[in-house]
This record gives sequence, C-alpha cells and structure tokens, in this order.
Amino acid sequence: MKLERILQNQGFGSRRQCRQLVELGEVRIAGEVMDNPGAEIATAGLVFEVEDENWTYREKTYVALYKPAGYECSHEPKHHRSVYSLLPYQLVARDVQSVGRLDVDTTGLLLFSDDGAFIHNLSSPKKHVPKTYRAELAEDGTEALVQQLLDGVDLIEEPQPVRALTARLLAERTLELSVDLGKYHVVKRMIAAAGNHVEQLHRSGFGGLTLGQPPLADLAEGDWVYLEAADLQQLHPAA
Ligand code: URA
Repeated sequence: MKLERILQNQGFGSRRQCRQLVELGEVRIAGEVMDNPGAEIATAGLVFEVEDENWTYREKTYVALYKPAGYECSHEPKHHRSVYSLLPYQLVARDVQSVGRLDVDTTGLLLFSDDGAFIHNLSSPKKHVPKTYRAELAEDGTEALVQQLLDGVDLIEEPQPVRALTARLLAERTLELSVDLGKYHVVKRMIAAAGNHVEQLHRSGFGGLTLGQPPLADLAEGDWVYLEAADLQQLHPAA
C-alpha cells in the first residue's frame, strides 16, 4: 500500500497532510526516513515512526478504556467532556466508536473499535455477552434484593422481566451483578425496580475481560490500551 495511504487510514490526517508529513521527513521505517509518499510498503507486521512515536499498522483497531466519571460517551457531549478526548486523535480520526455506552457518572471498562461487525457482535442482545458491574447502594442490600434481580424485575418498555445473570453482595452496600443487556440505564433501573438505589456504578468486566486482570492488569483510570487478537478471543469466542 502507498505510504501516504497507510498514514491516512491509520488516522494521521488527509491525504495531503499525510503527504506533507512524509515530505517533512517525519516518517521513518526501521530507522530510515521515508521521503516518498507514494512508496509501496507491505503492511503486514509494519511498525513505523511518525514524529518520533512508534505505531503498529492495524487494519482494524480495538481499544479498552478505563472510563473515569464525568465523561460522556458521545462525540458531541452536552455537559461534560467526551470519552473520545481520552483517546489519541489518530484513533478518533479512524472513527472508532464505543461498544455501547456508560452513563456520565459510571466508571469502568469501555471498549472502542472501528470494526463495525465487532461492535455489532458485542452489542447484539442475541450474543449474550455478559457485562459485570459493581453498584454502591443507597441502602443495605439484602438476599431478597439479590434474589429479585436473579428472578427478574419489570422495567418500563421491556416486554419481559429483566434478569441479572449473576448477583451477589460483596459488602452491605456493594452489589456485584452481571447482565447481558445493553439497555439505557439498565442496571440502575433494575436496582430501582427491586427497591434500592444506585449511588455509584462501576463496570468491572466485559465478556472475559476484567479490569485489574491481564491484559488490563495495569490499566489506570483514564488510560487506554490496544486489544490484540488473543485479547479479543478472551473477550468473546465469536468476536
Ligand atoms: N447500566 C446503567 O444503569 N448505567 C450504565 O452506565 C451502564 C449500565
């Protein structure tokens, strides 16, 4: 693929801007300055440098972010900063989208990709990908609350009762639960329907990926990492 095209589809700007980067001597491969924007370069395993930063060529890109509170999952946020402001501009230019959304006050694991099929697969209710949440409750949790969530609660506009796949109390006011639905405010609504109230919500896991465990062991709040092929396998066998 032509070098300028590689740079463009990896998010470094318009064709003209990418050509300029090359002409300014800002692009290197294996330490060598590339001065021909039209040079044909093999993309398999390609690592290149732009303005002294290393990049690996990725046909599609997959990213995990530890979302802090106070960020909206929108490109056009209304009252807060955008989660996209936590990602490098090259990823935003590649048009990565979040896989579902977290509320502005929810923290935790949020995935992004520019692979539409991947996003669709993980978002589809038919795929039953579980997401695990830790909810800080306004009132002490009880075994009756846990049982209600496991049995299913009625939510407005949901034709069937909505069930948690798992639910357990970690502390008097800390409830861990997993759900495979991606509905608006689903966890807060479920807990409200069961007679309690969520004060703080954190998503600790998405499919087989869990914050604090490899490959997300060192991911700090506000940070992001690329997900590699093996990580995607861990996420969902079909992804
Ligand atoms: N359920 C909610 O209520 N909020 C979230 O952010 C995610 C799931």
